[in-house]
Amino acid sequence: MKKASIIFGSTTGNTEAVANTIAENMIDYEVKLYYVTDATEAAVKEVDLVLYGCSTWGYGELQEDFVPYYNNIMTDQLLRGKSVGVFGCGDKENYEDVFCAAADLIKAKAQQCGAIIVGDILRVDSEPADNTDAIVAYARSL
Ligand SMILES: Cc1cc2nc3c(=O)[nH]c(=O)nc-3n(C[C@H](O)[C@H](O)[C@H](O)COP(=O)(O)O)c2cc1C
Repeated sequence: MKKASIIFGSTTGNTEAVANTIAENMIDYEVKLYYVTDATEAAVKEVDLVLYGCSTWGYGELQEDFVPYYNNIMTDQLLRGKSVGVFGCGDKENYEDVFCAAADLIKAKAQQCGAIIVGDILRVDSEPADNTDAIVAYARSL
């Protein structure tokens, strides 16, 4: 069976809920979940697919726990040739211009590092429970 890691940062638990729903519905994969501050390089090196999940805070900024990982762990050496998908939570009504911008930042960094981006970003607006169908469809498309 193929292996995947889901590495996420979440302040109020929304991105965590999305990560759990994705993991439950990736039926072709053995999936491990890592909070971003606990994610080692092995969590990337030993799997076929890495999913990064991050909510957006401030005005278009990364969720704070994701910042050290983004700055220090996301490198060419780790990500070149690796399949990477990205998802995020945000608020379209109040932050339309920077809706889920953290996911865009992570996708761009992964691309700069030579990763192969899998699928489109999954952007979850407001409550994950109102977006279950889209989250399940995303997980099944991987
Ligand atoms: C102070 C504040 C700033 C926010 N900034 C953004 C933003 O720039 N873009 C966006 O899409 N959502 C923004 N949000 C919405 C959060 O990303 C959203 O509530 C998300 O579901 C939180 O996910 P988490 O619980 O996984 O951290 C903001 C929310 C707050 C309270």
